[in-house]
Amino acid sequence: MQTIIARSLPNLKKNLNNLKKNKKVGLVPTMGCIHDGHLALVEKSKKLKYFTVVTIFVNPAQFNNTNDLKSYPSQEKKDLEILKNNNVDLVFIPKVQQIYSAGYSTYVKEINYSDILCGRLRKNHFSGVLTIVLKLFLITKPYAAFFGEKDFQQLFLIKKMVKDLNVSVKIISVPTVRDNNGLALSSRNKLLNPKSLKLAKKINVHFRKIRHLHYKLTRDLESYLQKELKKNGFNDIEYLEVRESATLEHPVTIKDKKSLRVFIAVNLSGVRLIDNYKLK
Ligand code: PAJ
Repeated sequence: MQTIIARSLPNLKKNLNNLKKNKKVGLVPTMGCIHDGHLALVEKSKKLKYFTVVTIFVNPAQFNNTNDLKSYPSQEKKDLEILKNNNVDLVFIPKVQQIYSAGYSTYVKEINYSDILCGRLRKNHFSGVLTIVLKLFLITKPYAAFFGEKDFQQLFLIKKMVKDLNVSVKIISVPTVRDNNGLALSSRNKLLNPKSLKLAKKINVHFRKIRHLHYKLTRDLESYLQKELKKNGFNDIEYLEVRESATLEHPVTIKDKKSLRVFIAVNLSGVRLIDNYKLK
C-alpha cells in the first residue's frame, strides 16, 4: 500500500470519503520530527488494523512563546520517508491558514486541570492542544486516536475532553519510549547541546532511585528530589511534583506508591524537557 500525502482539507476529505465503509480510522496527531515514540503510536494503530492517519502540524495555538514556536524542529522530507517505511496509510500536513483561517476565535477550554504542571507557566497551552485535537477529530473522524504517556497531562486532558464533550473517539494511550539510557524520546532532544544531552540522560537515574525510598510526606520526597537534581547540575527546574495518576491531585501523604507519578519539567540550556515516572 502506498502512503497518501494530503496537504489540503479537500484532498484529505476526498481520500477519507473513498475509504471502504467498514474501515476504521486510527489517528496519530504529531508536530513532526518523527521519532520512535511517535512510531510506537503508529505501530499500535497498525496492529489494530486501523487505516492509520498521521498528522504533522506544529500548532501555533499551543505555544505561548514565539521563539519556542520558531525554533521547534522540522524535517518534513525525512518524516515522510520514515512514515512511508512504517506503512502509514495517510499523512495530513496542513498549512496554518487552513486550520486557523483569518478571524479564527473559537477555542476549547478545560478549567480545572489546565493551569497546573505544564499549564502553570504556559497560559492557554492546553486550550491550544485541546482545540487542535478536537479539530483533528472533526476533520478526520477517527474511530480511535493514539497519545503517549510521555505527555501525561495532555493525555489526561484529552481523555477528559472526550468524556466531558461526548466525543465518540476511543483514546488509546501508549507507554513512554526511552533510549538506552532511559531518556524519554522527544523531538526537542535534537536541540540539546552535547553537555545538556549528557545531563538529560541522567534524569531517569535520579528517578529510579526514589522507588526505593520511603517518604511519608509528598512534600519531603519532592524536596529531596529537587535537592538531588540541583546538586547534580539541574539548576532550572520548572516543576517537580508528585501527583495521582488517575486524578492529577496532589496528595499530602504517600500511601499507595503504585497510584502516584512524579512529574518534571526542566530547562537545559534553553531547551524545555518534560517527563513522568510511576513511583512504583
Ligand atoms: P508531539 O510532541 O509531536 O507528540 C505527538 C504524540 O507522540 C503525543 O501523543 C506524544 O505524547 C507522543 N510521544 C512523544 N514522545 C513520546 C515518547 N517518547 N513515547 C511515547 N509517546 C510519545 O504532543 C504533541 O505533539 C502535540 O501536543 C499534539 C497532540 C500533536 C497536538 O498538537
